[in-house]
Amino acid sequence: MPIFWRPQFRIGHDDIDADHRYLILLINTVELVLRFPDDPRNVDLALAELRRYAEYHFEREERIQIAYGYLHLDQHKREHRALLAEIDVLAQRIHATLEDPDGGVEGVKAQSGEITAFLRKWLVDHVMKADMQLAPLFRKPVVR
Ligand SMILES: [Fe+2]
Repeated sequence: MPIFWRPQFRIGHDDIDADHRYLILLINTVELVLRFPDDPRNVDLALAELRRYAEYHFEREERIQIAYGYLHLDQHKREHRALLAEIDVLAQRIHATLEDPDGGVEGVKAQSGEITAFLRKWLVDHVMKADMQLAPLFRKPVVR
């Protein structure tokens, strides 16, 4: 089942929200190529794009945090680094499965449900717990 963007994911910054939507789309693409892995190269491509865009997005989000004077930047940065490391571990695991004569595309297909559940949680937990802390920064001051 693909994941759909929901209004409760909104942080209130257009670039951050647009990036989160695109990351959801990329996770859905990874799910698709894992479930229907006709060409193993598509698995590598989808994972590489997710990794590339996640890194780009995290850097953009960190620049926005600096611009807004966010106090917990270091902690947030550490979380971003850990999230990228998790993607690297996952990509290595998928690669090893593809290379394994007993695994291959069927092996990857068998793990697709578990992997996509992990990726959904990977993104949604970070957005709802860490990124949501940023929302007050983007609220317009009330004019009295
Ligand atoms: Fe973040």
